[in-house]
Amino acid sequence: MTFVYPDAIVSTAGHVDHGKTQTTYALSGVWVMKHSEEIKKAMTIKLGYTQIGVYDCGDEYYYSDGVLNAGKCPNGQEPKLVRRLSLLDVPGHEVLVATMVSGAAVVDGALLVVDASQPAPQPQTAEHFAVLDIIGVRHMVVAQNKIDLVSKEKALENYEQIRKFLAGTWAEKAKIIPISALHKVNIDALVTHLAKEIPKREAELGKPARFSVLRSFNVNPPGTPPEKLRGGVLGGTLLQGVLRVGDEIELRPGLKIDKPKPGYQPIYTKVLSIEYSGYKVDEARPGGLVGIMTGLDPALTKADALAGAVVGKPGTLPPVWTAVEVDVKPIPRAAGEKPEPFKQNEVVLLAVGPATVFGVVQAAKKDVITVALKKAVCADQGSKVVVIRQIKNRWIVTNYGTLKG
Ligand code: GTP
Ligand code: MG
Ligand code: MG
Repeated sequence: MTFVYPDAIVSTAGHVDHGKTQTTYALSGVWVMKHSEEIKKAMTIKLGYTQIGVYDCGDEYYYSDGVLNAGKCPNGQEPKLVRRLSLLDVPGHEVLVATMVSGAAVVDGALLVVDASQPAPQPQTAEHFAVLDIIGVRHMVVAQNKIDLVSKEKALENYEQIRKFLAGTWAEKAKIIPISALHKVNIDALVTHLAKEIPKREAELGKPARFSVLRSFNVNPPGTPPEKLRGGVLGGTLLQGVLRVGDEIELRPGLKIDKPKPGYQPIYTKVLSIEYSGYKVDEARPGGLVGIMTGLDPALTKADALAGAVVGKPGTLPPVWTAVEVDVKPIPRAAGEKPEPFKQNEVVLLAVGPATVFGVVQAAKKDVITVALKKAVCADQGSKVVVIRQIKNRWIVTNYGTLKG
């Protein structure tokens, strides 16, 4: 059987606790939240990625893995796979929203989850929508969630509030689908509209491979004897091009070195195997989260040690930066408070490509800041950069701009 590649990335969006993760689960049948730390805090602190199959069951709806019953259509038919979509479960937690904005993953469409039992829009609903606007997303479906908690009148009132919120924007005509993610009500309608509204991405297979490392792992159980050790695994997404089993690859920024002078040394290795959540394939393509097993010593990849790196064919990668100059524009905020000007020596968080790094502001002019980074990043000049500042003890996404030099 040939593997059907995911052909678009859909990002969830919406206020904290409105049900993004629950809706992702209802669609996929998979809990994205796997980390004990995340479960403890009941808050999504890392980007969660999952793939859903979209199936035709011979009626007017499409179905997804989470809706099928033990792999069968509700009407008992064999489901016919129409396409695969990648779902990015964005955390309500702001800091990680920056990862999405910075272009760590190319987002093709959005699933805005709105809690029907609260007045709309809540602050982060508005802020996530502003972010989607900035990154150029132009396809969206709204899931009006938790309808099990409200009366029909309340649901209609909330529906009108959402309509009013979107009026006059590119999403004015977005479909609003009432669902209960918890009780799996109307999820088939949601799948149907997602599959119809989110266009297939042109995969740009001819361009040089460019892979964002979002996670890295050591997949060996403790105590594995050296001869049985499996190579370090990189989890992430291909932004363009293809990577094949056997390819030589370069990883940047790479290893921090002190001699001959302080800096970074790229890492060279080989692709040993490629896997899309359980499917082994010979080739990775843009559009989904993929795991790449490499010849790297797994000690190098354990516990996300290489998260934020960029991978490609040797000699094709962008430069490595230890300080960056960024032109910054404020992100429109629902709260409306104007942030103070940047200060010299202020500690900021920057999301650049797949990396989110701390830095110290060296110089601040009106619209341009220069930041010395605690950890180097690999990115093209002109890349999107998102600036996160600490305001009243919270880390808040305040500005976006481009890497000038
Ligand atoms: P963050 O990642 O923290 O931003 O939250 P989230 O948007 O991912 O929300 P999550 O899916 O974690 O759901 C938050 C809470 O709402 C959980 O307790 C869910 O069980 C509950 N919930 C989600 N969907 C529904 C629903 O359809 N009905 C009801 N009654 N509760 C729901
Ligand atoms: Mg939550
Ligand atoms: Mg969540």
